[in-house]
Amino acid sequence: MAKEITVSGVRPTGRQHLGNYFGAVINFVKMQEHFNGYFFVADYHSLTTHPKAADLAANVKQIVVEYLACGVDPNKCTLYLQSAVPQIPELYLVFNMFAYLGELERSATFKEKVRDQPDNVNAGLLTYPVLMAVDILVHKAAKVPVGKDQQQHLEMTRDFAKRFNHTYGVDYFPEPEAFSYETSLVSIPSLDGVGKMSKSKGENTCIYLADDADSLRKKMMKAKTADSPTAPNSPKPIEIQNLFDLMQLVSSAETNAFFHEKWNDTTIRYGDFKKQLGEDMGTYLAPIREKIEKLSANDKLLNEIINDGGSKARQNATQTLKDVREIIGIKSY
Ligand code: ADP
Ligand code: TRP
Repeated sequence: MAKEITVSGVRPTGRQHLGNYFGAVINFVKMQEHFNGYFFVADYHSLTTHPKAADLAANVKQIVVEYLACGVDPNKCTLYLQSAVPQIPELYLVFNMFAYLGELERSATFKEKVRDQPDNVNAGLLTYPVLMAVDILVHKAAKVPVGKDQQQHLEMTRDFAKRFNHTYGVDYFPEPEAFSYETSLVSIPSLDGVGKMSKSKGENTCIYLADDADSLRKKMMKAKTADSPTAPNSPKPIEIQNLFDLMQLVSSAETNAFFHEKWNDTTIRYGDFKKQLGEDMGTYLAPIREKIEKLSANDKLLNEIINDGGSKARQNATQTLKDVREIIGIKSY
């Protein structure tokens, strides 16, 4: 039986953080064993904020390096750049006809961007979910490993796919679903205690995969806490719950149990708690950081991988475009 297809990508807007890792990339690494995986760098998506050309190029390389350092294996999946597949912008044009202004304006990420960058509300921001849907549909993927923040985009993807199928009376595009090996989609909190960890929120709010032990320690010491507990077994304020959530990901079961007990009997000292978390974070990320450093120096290998992945992705996308043109009545000459 043919393997199920999976697609996912990360925008090259900076170094990847724990949210990208636990929300997305850790799943790519597991999925490549059982799925036909297409994992890419969403470079067109990052143009909505007008990055400088040199910064974009450096960030694209960084994401590729980090994918590989985390264990994404180009022998087991297709690793490529979105911009290497011209069929994506072509299909994006077609799918723009199936996306309605009202629903695009109602998208949570669009509203957030309008708030965050009121001077740059470009049409690319509005149709961001269409481009994302096309990334997925161009490979006819069934499962999309993403963090919780992308759930709405997947709903929109299914709507666009359904409309296309319905309009042309075909059963061509599958209706893909967001996927995680966890019981629910993951959302890693920002270190400032407000919202999710995000590349756009800045240095001290993110734990980057490439952070060294010293900066991890310092960042954790600066992470936001709350008043100390005054009664046994108190509910945890959000900032403290966030830190416990991070500890759950990187520390041993004993360490987790130890600090939970300290919280429950009110003797927890936030200094010790954060110091331990900083150290465990350093130990957890050290192997990835070392690989990032090594791979960054090997442009030849990176170029080979990306070239090869680009041609595999194009091959698959070419078939989809051929089918779509036929379905919609546009001839291919
Ligand atoms: P960012 O928001 O930091 O710029 P991207 O938008 O490039 O990150 O997201 C790439 C992937 O990482 C997506 O699958 C997204 O859901 C996931 N992701 C990003 N931030 C988090 C987070 N804090 N928790 C869980 N997953 C996240
Ligand atoms: N929109 C995603 C994000 O901001 C990145 C992305 C673009 C993506 N195209 C995709 C994720 C296709 C999964 C599948 O996180």
